[in-house]
Amino acid sequence: MPDIKPIIPNVVEADGVVCSITPRPMGKGSESQRAKAVEQTGGMPMVDYEGKSNPYIDYQSTDLLHSLQHLRSDGYDEMCFYIMGQTKELLFRGLHMELVNARDQVIKNNLSSALVILTRCKAYVDHITDTWNVLGTITSNGFNQFRDHLSTASGQLSYMYRHVEFVLGNKNERLAVAHRNVPHVWPAIKESFESPGLYDEALRYLHRQGQAIDADVLDRDWTKPYESSESVKQAWLAVYDNAAADNLDYQLAEKLVALDEAFSIYRWRHFVTVHKIIGYKPGTGGSAGVGWLEKIAHHRFFPELWEIRDHL
Ligand code: HEM
Repeated sequence: MPDIKPIIPNVVEADGVVCSITPRPMGKGSESQRAKAVEQTGGMPMVDYEGKSNPYIDYQSTDLLHSLQHLRSDGYDEMCFYIMGQTKELLFRGLHMELVNARDQVIKNNLSSALVILTRCKAYVDHITDTWNVLGTITSNGFNQFRDHLSTASGQLSYMYRHVEFVLGNKNERLAVAHRNVPHVWPAIKESFESPGLYDEALRYLHRQGQAIDADVLDRDWTKPYESSESVKQAWLAVYDNAAADNLDYQLAEKLVALDEAFSIYRWRHFVTVHKIIGYKPGTGGSAGVGWLEKIAHHRFFPELWEIRDHL
């Protein structure tokens, strides 16, 4: 970015913002109400609202949302970094909700719903990966202008990202307990850390379908990282014997491996983009920085689904 000081346009007057996490009161529409509105406006957008807000602001709390960009420097690139960070937090939130629901549908043997949800999960991950296109425009000089203001803040402390990793089965005690001092965040992280992930439930589902899977896979210490198992590999190979469009178990495997692939690409983009911006300098969160990102780029959530490729 050019070496200029940014203009940060003010878009809301702070004293009018409703600073509450409770949903704002709103009316409810209907087909007939909308038809009547169109008659009244002659098809033009409505412009007259009562009170000091409007239904869109109330529904999305946009005035509050747009008041939460607390820049700490006058570096030009900080706003871009901040907005993309917040955007990614929301996208992780959306992705996590879908993953939890996909897991729930697998638990209920409702594979057709799980498959629909997993399609959206991958779309989310692809979209999150695209955030690197924007973040990649941050230059080394631009980043240096605000980096010290991050103190020890790092994306590795994103509890929303950790929820995503945990429901996908990538358990890590050290990264879980990093949240234990935050009373309003820790209970959910702890529960997520101690619960079976999506893949654990997929393997239990396969077992319910009659696949022979070792007992120590089906019931284990869920806080431990998942380790590849020969019985699981054989079970997936049996599924792939019938690689048909109407074989939902096969479709599940393909959706999972596509999600894993998309997530690997996300990690890879993180590593390469960060390499370009900070080289091999240490991270703000105490890690070896790019060295750490490079190492985790090799992680796969569902190892057997990759191992069987040698035999397909
Ligand atoms: C473009 C600027 C960015 C740089 C230079 C950067 C750099 C790094 C580095 C060096 C690490 C390793 C941990 C440490 O800090 O010591 C890391 C981890 C991480 N970063 Fe970034 N990052 C950037 C943007 C982001 C954004 C916008 C997010 C989204 C919230 C993010 C999410 C994460 C997460 C979740 C981890 C932990 C990964 C894991 O535990 O597997 N990063 N980042």
